[in-house]
Amino acid sequence: MSNQRTDNDKFGFQYKVSLRSETVKDNQNILDCFSGHGHIWNEVRKQTGLELIITSIDTRNDKSSVYLKGDNIKFLKAMDLGQYDVIDLDSYGIPFQQLEVIFAKKYKGIIHITFIQSSMGRLNNGLLTSLGYTKNMIKKCPTLFSKNGYDKFKYYLANHSILRVNELSLKKKHYLYFKL
Ligand SMILES: C[S@@+](CC[C@H](N)C(=O)[O-])C[C@H]1O[C@@H](n2cnc3c(N)ncnc32)[C@H](O)[C@@H]1O
Repeated sequence: MSNQRTDNDKFGFQYKVSLRSETVKDNQNILDCFSGHGHIWNEVRKQTGLELIITSIDTRNDKSSVYLKGDNIKFLKAMDLGQYDVIDLDSYGIPFQQLEVIFAKKYKGIIHITFIQSSMGRLNNGLLTSLGYTKNMIKKCPTLFSKNGYDKFKYYLANHSILRVNELSLKKKHYLYFKL
């Protein structure tokens, strides 16, 4: 079991690096909204040899590196997103609220997403209501409406005219990008 988890993590990381390497060009500006320790983009830099200008955001508290500390929603709302070629949403869950801000601001560029729905995980009400499910329906049986979360997420993207995504999946983890 623990080996399997290690393999999933290893392949997941490689998938993330390879998808990002496909999209990036020299001297691009990247907004890394869930930057953690920046492992993914460090590896992209290493593998591609490209110069990348990265703005990192994270809620964690680490004085040894430079990044914008706090909830990325706050920064996404406040920042001029037009300066970024790529926005990275490498979340632990489903970055629905972040996408809502990005769509509302009519951002144009590449978005990378990590989508993970835990087995008991509920889909965000906003995502479900945007697909036509009413709050009453969801309240009656939240688990029913949270089934096939990734399919529903892609319908949500389709409602925003994103009909084609580039994706790699590993069990319940999905890594994808698209261009707006
Ligand atoms: C999957 S890890 C990111 C790993 C990272 N992309 C890397 O390359 O090392 C998710 C990170 O998101 C951060 N995080 C979670 N919610 C956040 C939020 N609302 N705003 C900013 N950072 C957040 C966590 O502290 C964690 O470091």
